[in-house]
Amino acid sequence: MPINLQKNYIVSQGFDESGRLYMQHWMWRMQLGWDLHPAIKLPDSSDARIVEQGCGNAAWLVSVAADLEKDQKHATLVGLDADSSHFPAAANLPANIKLGILDAFTEDLPAEYVGQYDVVHVRAFSSVVKQGNPGPLIENAYKMLKPGGYLQWDDLDGGSFKAVAPGSDSEAASVSTTAA
Ligand SMILES: C[S@@+](CC[C@H](N)C(=O)[O-])C[C@H]1O[C@@H](n2cnc3c(N)ncnc32)[C@H](O)[C@@H]1O
Repeated sequence: MPINLQKNYIVSQGFDESGRLYMQHWMWRMQLGWDLHPAIKLPDSSDARIVEQGCGNAAWLVSVAADLEKDQKHATLVGLDADSSHFPAAANLPANIKLGILDAFTEDLPAEYVGQYDVVHVRAFSSVVKQGNPGPLIENAYKMLKPGGYLQWDDLDGGSFKAVAPGSDSEAASVSTTAA
């Protein structure tokens, strides 16, 4: 069942918000130097299958698809969001990216998504988690993964607004974006 995002999500679904998501994506990529964490090993033998929950305008998926194509890796990418307002037209997406509607916190995960993916990606969801409980989102991600798959969750340290890669020296690797 679709959820009411006006009630459940603080940010608008307009053109300006899509622009903000693009800017945020490029800042993330420039700061971290990657979209898909370098420790993630995709299968060599078959098409990798990657899904993103709350994909917004699919900026991350498009960027990952371009990187994989450069590396001559075959992949199928799926973007899911509770609302399609930010979805680019299918004709403007690479053929290996498909988008669909799903509440990331659903308690009734459709069977078509179960056990299907090598990677589940979640980003910028700290403002979406309700009542401090990310449990349903993590449970769904776990169900969506193939055995040995990866959950990559990138999120904000809202207090400092620093971008820090896991395992890196947080002082050296980060840039404070706090306004003076
Ligand atoms: C929370 S941000 C995520 C942005 C995206 N992951 C990125 O990094 O560019 C905005 C998106 O989250 C979606 N969203 C908010 N609540 C959601 C939910 N419960 N399930 C799925 N998507 C949700 C919004 O519709 C919007 O497209």
